[in-house]
Amino acid sequence: MTETLILRELLAAEPGWVSGGAIASKLGVSRVSIWHQVEKLRAQGFALEAIPARGYRLSRRPLMLHSGLVEAQLKVRRKGFTLAILDEVDSTNDEAARQLAAGRSAPFAVFARRQTRGRGRFGRHWHSEANGNLYSSFAFRPRIAPERMQTFTLWMGVTICELVSKFVPVAPGIKWPNDIVFDGRKAGGMLTEARVDADQIRDLVFGLGLNVNSAPSDWPTELGRRAVSLSELAGAPVDLNRFTAALIGRVLLAYERFADGEHVDSFAELWNRYDVLRGREVTLVESGRKRRGRALGVDDVGSLLIRDERGRTHGCRAGEVTVEKGG
Ligand code: BTN
Repeated sequence: MTETLILRELLAAEPGWVSGGAIASKLGVSRVSIWHQVEKLRAQGFALEAIPARGYRLSRRPLMLHSGLVEAQLKVRRKGFTLAILDEVDSTNDEAARQLAAGRSAPFAVFARRQTRGRGRFGRHWHSEANGNLYSSFAFRPRIAPERMQTFTLWMGVTICELVSKFVPVAPGIKWPNDIVFDGRKAGGMLTEARVDADQIRDLVFGLGLNVNSAPSDWPTELGRRAVSLSELAGAPVDLNRFTAALIGRVLLAYERFADGEHVDSFAELWNRYDVLRGREVTLVESGRKRRGRALGVDDVGSLLIRDERGRTHGCRAGEVTVEKGG
């Protein structure tokens, strides 16, 4: 905790100096304990200059996820929310589900620098090297009906697009139901999983994998052609810790608005803004069955609306969509 508070003081003073004495009296601890914490931060990859007459100055921060650095940059501290950053885990979604099952109080978030069994939709492998990308899962215990889960993912998708657009100079889009894309290349994917009791969701895990700082050379060739990272789009590394702090703020707020039903007013407008399928000729494949037609947006339970060549409109709840050439 002291570490987070010291980091907050150092970040607030950046690029200037802050005196050890001032931090110590603000936090109610001794100057020696500040000095000890500064040494610990140095050992974790922070560069801190120290001049007796001026104090300390932060001159370099670690690029990899650092919990103190994320917490120090949270704008609002939400009651009861906790966060864990792991070096390695099988899947952050699985870890969050295990912790929920073990009774950990929600909301909480699990982040990992690397996943050994990262999963995507349809049980696909999610490439999860320790390359500066984001592997995150948020755990909730909502009181909502299972039918609302699809809209939850879509709502989270527009939330992520809004955030991402603050970090890159290119407009993001969502490919129904869970891909974050830029001009046809995938930058991220969402995986929402829930345990359901009778007619209510018992608990829910919202997983987000986002290519933040990976280089094109980090991916296998075939994947590299279809994938893109935020740093590639921004032309410079993205501050992963600042991004993560902003993500937590947005996801928690979006969750509250969804749980209260407040999202309804803005959802349709935001979905239309980011929906990359609207008006395109698409093919949706679900359990081996194909449906072709023009995508018309989504209905109020989050199903993709497709108008076939006979003019009939179908609401499709699941499946994989491809855009037809020239469509
Ligand atoms: C998809 O596009 O199919 C969804 C990909 C979701 C990947 C994320 S990474 C963090 C979380 N943990 C997982 O195992 N999967 C999700």
